[in-house]
Amino acid sequence: MPTTLFQHVQHRHGSGLAEVLQAVAAAAVQVEQALRTAGLADVLGTAGYENIQGEQQQKLDVIANEILSAAIGKLPTVAGLVSEEDDAPVVFAARPDAPYVVLFDPLDGSSNLDVNVNVGTIVSVQTRPAGTDAVTAALQAGSQQTAALYVNYGPSTLLVYTAGRGVHSFTLSSSEFVLAAEDLRMPASGPYYSLNEGNLAESDPAYTSAVAGLRDGSLTGDRHGSRYVGSFIADFHRTLLKGGIFLYPPTKKNPHGKLRLLYEASPLSFVAEQAGGAATDGQERILDLLPAEPHVRTPLVIGSRVEVSAVSDMLAGSPRE
Ligand code: AHG
Ligand code: MN
Ligand code: MN
Repeated sequence: MPTTLFQHVQHRHGSGLAEVLQAVAAAAVQVEQALRTAGLADVLGTAGYENIQGEQQQKLDVIANEILSAAIGKLPTVAGLVSEEDDAPVVFAARPDAPYVVLFDPLDGSSNLDVNVNVGTIVSVQTRPAGTDAVTAALQAGSQQTAALYVNYGPSTLLVYTAGRGVHSFTLSSSEFVLAAEDLRMPASGPYYSLNEGNLAESDPAYTSAVAGLRDGSLTGDRHGSRYVGSFIADFHRTLLKGGIFLYPPTKKNPHGKLRLLYEASPLSFVAEQAGGAATDGQERILDLLPAEPHVRTPLVIGSRVEVSAVSDMLAGSPRE
C-alpha cells in the first residue's frame, strides 16, 4: 500500500502539521483540475486587474488563491494567511490562539500558463510563538519555518515538502499524493546555471562576471549550460534533482529582486538547505533575513553549495545597493 502525504507527515511530525499539509495537498488537487481544463473553461488570460505586486493577475491566479485560501482557512489550527494575491494578511479573529500561520504563492509562474509550461504552488508554514499575533508570526525569519512545500504541475504533478527532517517527494495518482522518494539530496555541484539573461545588463556587473565564470568554467572549474523555464518552481525542481544554480538578481525594475521572500525564496531555501544545498540574497543567508512586511522582495542565489558559495563570494566583493 503506497504511503500517502498525510501518513508520512503524521508519522514524522504529528497530526497537527499533517492536517495542514493535507489541506494544501487537497487544494492542489483542485488547482491541478482547474489547470488541466483551463483551455476549455475560458479561464486562461488575465483577470483584468493588477495585484499588490503591480502585476496583471491571471484568472487562474485568482482561482488558485480562492481554492487555497478556502481549504487552509477553514482549519481550526490556522490563525492567519498571507497570500501573494492578497494585499493584506487574512487574520482569523475568532481563533487568535491557533498554532499555525500559512503563507503561499497560489500559482507560481503564471506568465507560463497560456503556453502550457509547468507552473506551481509554494507554501510556507510558521508556528505562532506564544503571545504573538498572526501577523507577527508571519514575519518571522525563514529559519523559524515549521514546514515548506511546493507543487510542480507538469507532465506529472509532484509535491515536495520538508519539515526539518529531510526533503520528500510525492506524485499525484488518482487524486492522492503518494510517496515517490525520501531524503532527496541536491548534488554538491551541477551542470546548469539558470537566470533571465535578458536582465543581466540591468544588474550589478558582478552578476555578469559570475555568469561568465559559470559558463566558461573559470568560476568552479566546470563549465555550465543554461536552462531557464521562467517558473521558479520548475527551475528550482530541476536544480534540486540535477544540481547547479538559479539566480534572480536585482534589476532596474526590481531593485530588490523580483521574488518575494516570505512565500517564494524562504520556503524553497528551507527545502534547498534540507537537501544539502544553499541559498543567499547574494551575500546573506536567505533563512536569516527578517522581513519588514509580507510582500518584501529579495535577490536570490539558490542551488548547489559549490556554485552558491562561489557566486556569493564573487558578489560579496561588490558594493551593495
Ligand atoms: P509569479 O507567477 O508567482 O508572479 O512568479 C513568477 C516569478 C517566478 O516564477 C519566475 O522565476 C520569475 O517570475 C520569472 O521572472 P522573469 O519573467 O522576469 O524572468
Ligand atoms: Mn511566484
Ligand atoms: Mn504567483
